[in-house]
Amino acid sequence: MTGQFITLEGTEGAGKSTNLAFIQTFLSEQGIEVIVTREPGGTEIGEAIRTILLDNALTEMTSDTELLLIFAARAQHIQEKIQPALAAGTWVISDRFTDASYAYQGAARSMGFERIAEIERWVQQGFQPDTTFIFDLPVEVGMARVRARSAETGQVIDRFETEKQDFFEKVRSGYLNRAAAAPARYEILDASQPISSVQTAIQARLETMLA
Ligand code: TMP
Repeated sequence: MTGQFITLEGTEGAGKSTNLAFIQTFLSEQGIEVIVTREPGGTEIGEAIRTILLDNALTEMTSDTELLLIFAARAQHIQEKIQPALAAGTWVISDRFTDASYAYQGAARSMGFERIAEIERWVQQGFQPDTTFIFDLPVEVGMARVRARSAETGQVIDRFETEKQDFFEKVRSGYLNRAAAAPARYEILDASQPISSVQTAIQARLETMLA
């Protein structure tokens, strides 16, 4: 039995990390072997590429460079980590995957979706997540959470987080449009709801996957 590939998506501050831990714990309690990973990143090479992508000093980065770096990290991630784990029967949960490229680079940076699809075909050869959770909430709520977290922890605002509200509005609608075009794969969660309601919805979807 191959494992299932689950991805988590959403705008900044939507609560992906907390809910990722919830999914991991829930699946482990069901006796499922599970690994958690992230994009950009997930491998030594991918994490090195992530450092470049998030460096807010690299203000000259073109959209093409950004997209190619993201897919370079993704190629390594799929081949080195994700596919071997799935083949061994391990479930893989990734904090972001290719839907983020359509939302951030496609919708928000206005790169052509066809261009992204072309690189996606080249890198993924049809490989897709089995299920994608989208944590959806008003952009200003998420941005306020990011600012509060940064003030509290001293965490530096990264190159993407320096974008303005309008950018994240496009990211948000980019995700919702992706989900509307292929609803079977997606579970859209209202991340402005109390965490217990969000997790009830997540658990219901996971139980469907396990049935
Ligand atoms: P994170 O803050 O959720 O760890 O994600 C890092 C940033 O990378 C986030 O701002 C979104 C961005 N990103 C893209 O722009 N395109 C992608 O394909 C991925 C995976 C992430």
